[in-house]
Amino acid sequence: MRDAPWDAELLLRHVLGWSRADVIARGAEPLAAAAAERLAALVARRAARVPLQHLTGGQAFWRHEFAVSPAVLIPRPETELLVERALDLLAPTAAATVVDVGTGSGCIALSIAAERAQARVIGIDLSAVALDMARLNARRLALEPRVEWREGDLLGPVVDLTGQLDLVVSNPPYVDAGDPLEPEVRDHEPALALFPPGEGLSVYRRLWPQAAAALRPGGWALVEVGAGQAGEVAALAAAAGLDEVATFADLQGIPRVVQARRPR
Ligand SMILES: C[S@@+](CC[C@H](N)C(=O)[O-])C[C@H]1O[C@@H](n2cnc3c(N)ncnc32)[C@H](O)[C@@H]1O
Repeated sequence: MRDAPWDAELLLRHVLGWSRADVIARGAEPLAAAAAERLAALVARRAARVPLQHLTGGQAFWRHEFAVSPAVLIPRPETELLVERALDLLAPTAAATVVDVGTGSGCIALSIAAERAQARVIGIDLSAVALDMARLNARRLALEPRVEWREGDLLGPVVDLTGQLDLVVSNPPYVDAGDPLEPEVRDHEPALALFPPGEGLSVYRRLWPQAAAALRPGGWALVEVGAGQAGEVAALAAAAGLDEVATFADLQGIPRVVQARRPR
């Protein structure tokens, strides 16, 4: 594991409730026996490739800490680009309706809701247990009244809002079944969050036409894509009748977000 010393420090901090500064100032103090035992157990599970976030129970994303479990994808730093783009498209005071498709932990929906007080935000997921985790995060962040959760397939649960959405945002499953994955991901993250049915672009093929119908004229859609998928996903957006198609690269320079607009 590449970051073993860092993981060990985070587990130590988790066990002791310490900050980074505590580790620097008090790192030479002997560990109490109970804490040492707890730390050893966590280190053993981490060495067996259990994700660090399943041991500490959380992951920082955008401006908040999100509770995670094996029911949801662990939020990834590159997904913050979707939030950044969404906030760029949503005027701070606009009363926009925003839908997050495949909300998982709720990290995207809740990050947008926290920054856009006037927005109505709806998070959708096919997984009821994922929505339970999103609800827990909403409660922890005191955003409960601001976000609505709906269970179902893609934009099906918001059919009542057809033609009215200002923004559709989604980080859908896009991993190809043949792609090599780290054991932490392969053995511990939900297959429903990783693998689309059939081939890697199958969700985009269904999502873009649904978004074209669900958005108001002039409304925007933003999706995250896997490395190497942006060109084809952008072409699928145009084929669905969306325009102003653009791609945005993540901090590693990988085209990561495709943005498109329903013509006015
Ligand atoms: C890649 S994860 C993204 C989770 C979260 N939005 C994030 O960015 O960390 C994809 C999510 O989509 C959900 N999902 C998969 N297929 C779906 C479908 N057809 N309709 C709705 N949600 C779906 C999964 O349960 C999972 O929570």
